[in-house]
Amino acid sequence: MVAKCVAIDANFAADPRGVTTRYLATDDKQVEKAYFAYGLPATEALLTMLMPTVEKETGTELLPTYSYSRVYLPGAWLKKHTDRPACEVSATVALAQKTDKAWPLFLESKDGQTVEVALSPGDMLIYAGMEMPHWRDPFDGQWQLQAFLHYVRKNGLYADRKYDFRPRLGAPKIIKGAQEADA
Ligand SMILES: [Fe+2]
Repeated sequence: MVAKCVAIDANFAADPRGVTTRYLATDDKQVEKAYFAYGLPATEALLTMLMPTVEKETGTELLPTYSYSRVYLPGAWLKKHTDRPACEVSATVALAQKTDKAWPLFLESKDGQTVEVALSPGDMLIYAGMEMPHWRDPFDGQWQLQAFLHYVRKNGLYADRKYDFRPRLGAPKIIKGAQEADA
């Protein structure tokens, strides 16, 4: 299976080992009306550069797994979901947006309370995506560019997911068995 690519991505190529794309594609499993990219060099750099901040804020030593980015388009919405184990500790970073009003992310706490968080460009939210269901209502702005940085606890149950099973950061996504949706 090969991800569909959008018209601007003339240099898209399928990895012979399976599915991967480092270019903008449109068949995101969590969102309709969005472009996405797995492990772009710029977001992989953010993943490394911001890890000390995430470690400090969570009080936990971490290992990087992968980065992801999306360009949300008008009408985009994020299905209510929890994330896969490679996203034990996650950060969502607002990079840029063109919208008249902030577009909130909703998270459900352990006691069933809904928490609403609106990020402006430059803001980062750290969250436990495996534990807290999260979602967005339909977007009525023009576009929003968001980066997602994912980590596992260095001494935790999912430490084997370092680099998301890849040999190194920046490498294409490796598919193992049933495909897990990205966060
Ligand atoms: Fe998610």
